[in-house]
Formats: sequence, structure tokens, C-alpha cells
Amino acid sequence: MAQEETFIRRLDEKEHEMAMTTENLKVFYGEKEALHSASLQFERYQITSLIGASGSGKSTFLRSLNRMNDTISTARVEGKILYRDLDINSNEIDVYEMRKHIGMVFQRPNPFSKSIYENITFALERHGVHDKKKLDEIVETTLKQASLWDQVKDDLNKSALALSGGQQQRLCIARAIAMKPDILLMDEPASALDPISTQNIEETMMNLKDNYTIIIVTHNMQQAARISDYTAFFHLGQVIEFNETRKIFTKPRVKLTDDYVSGHFG
Ligand SMILES: Nc1ncnc2c1ncn2[C@@H]1O[C@H](COP(=O)(O)OP(=O)(O)O)[C@@H](O)[C@H]1O
Ligand SMILES: [Mg+2]
Repeated sequence: MAQEETFIRRLDEKEHEMAMTTENLKVFYGEKEALHSASLQFERYQITSLIGASGSGKSTFLRSLNRMNDTISTARVEGKILYRDLDINSNEIDVYEMRKHIGMVFQRPNPFSKSIYENITFALERHGVHDKKKLDEIVETTLKQASLWDQVKDDLNKSALALSGGQQQRLCIARAIAMKPDILLMDEPASALDPISTQNIEETMMNLKDNYTIIIVTHNMQQAARISDYTAFFHLGQVIEFNETRKIFTKPRVKLTDDYVSGHFG
């Protein structure tokens, strides 16, 4: 009896370590099944990379995790996506509320055509935060977390569009974390950036790891190897292998994974 209790408690704890899980997740565009039955678990406060060739279903999978596929009229999702025991596709879910918990940063930096300050405060104000002191504080902490504060602290009222691409992307990260999400989804956040900006973004992600669970799509395998704890390899809409990053890159179980990480295709 005691043993069984211990086991159940362990199992519970184990479950709580998972920020998010998918069970047999499939995504269709019209008749076409673009993602075949993906079951993945995302561990809390860890970085998980999704890698694979172009068209392998990485973005399709990622977008489904905060229901961005809702905006694609032909897209249909099957299977389960669990966030804290809630199925995010169920009818009771308020999508806007859910996206406060599961934020997203896109491939191309997309700051609003507003000041740096307002980029961060805009959504907060819409959610009822109006206290200037509180807003100032959030602007400062999120810009610090996004490794941008030192560069912009004297220019907060300048247009965000005047920033470099790399700075804009870090502003978008600051904007996303201002809502205090649990999970941050990133779709190739550095692919439009130069190597130095890419390095800055990677450092930013390492800083964020203490407070956020990060799921990142990257076609850059060195990046996946550098920053992530876990890696999932996608091929033709299928998750071929999912494991600790170290194992995926040094001892993959599947030959296809080996071929991909050693640069034989993709
Ligand atoms: N909006 C869409 N409508 C129809 N097909 C799509 C759409 N987005 C992606 N696809 C298709 O789904 C497959 C997976 O694409 P995607 O998820 O974008 O792959 P990746 O991000 O790995 O490059 C591809 O065959 C792609 O053409
Ligand atoms: Mg993509």
C-alpha cells in the first residue's frame, strides 16, 4: 500500500515536471495530413528544439501548441494538447487567455509601429494594467531579460522600427514575456538575423530558461546542439526521434536521424 502511494506520488510529480504534452497530435490542411500523430512531452524550464528539413512539419506542430493554426481556414487538428491537464482545444478554453500562458515569437521580427516602451505595454494595458510605475517596472525587467535594456534604456520613446533586426527580435521576446507566459514558442527566431544577433538571441534564451519553458524550431543544428536540452527530429510530417539533445547528436537510435544530423540531407 505504502509502496503504491509512493509510486502514485512520484508519477504525479513527474507529470508536473511537464509543462505541456501532445498525444497523437495530427494536423491536416484540407485533405492532406501534414503532421502524423506526434506525441511529445515538454519538460518545465527546459529548452526543446524541433529540427528537420524544410516542410517536415515543425511550424505546423509548433503553431498548434497555442492554436495559431486556428487562423488557417483549411487547418484541422486531431488528438490532444495538454497544458496543466487542460486540453487547449476544448470548447471551454478562452484562446486569448490561453495565449497569455503560451506565448509566441515569430520568425520575422514583427514589432508594432509604436515606441519601444509601448510595444511592451500595449497588451498589458489592454489587459487592464495602467499603473505607470508598474508598467515602467515591467518594461525594465523584460528588456533586461531579453538582453536589450542597456542598448535602449535612453531611447524608450523611439520607434521600435528604428531598431536593428536583432534588437527588434529581442524586443518581440520582451513583448512576449511581458505577459508572463509559462511557455514560450519560437519559430526560427534567429533565421533572419546575422551571426552576432543570433548569438545574442541564444544568450537571451539561456537567460530565460530559469523562468520559462521554451520550445524552439530551428533549422540550425549547431544552434539546437548549443542551446537545447531536448531535441525532436521531424521528417515528412513525422517525429522520427525525440530524446536528450546530447543523444540525438551523438548517439541517435534511428539511421534517418543520424543522416540528418550529420548533414547527409536537409
Ligand atoms: N497554411 C498551409 N496550407 C497548406 N499547407 C501547408 C500550410 N502550411 C504548411 N503546409 C504544408 O505542411 C507541410 C509542413 O509545413 P511546415 O509545418 O511549414 O514545415 P516546416 O516548418 O518544417 O518547414 C508542408 O508540406 C507544407 O507545404
Ligand atoms: Mg517552418
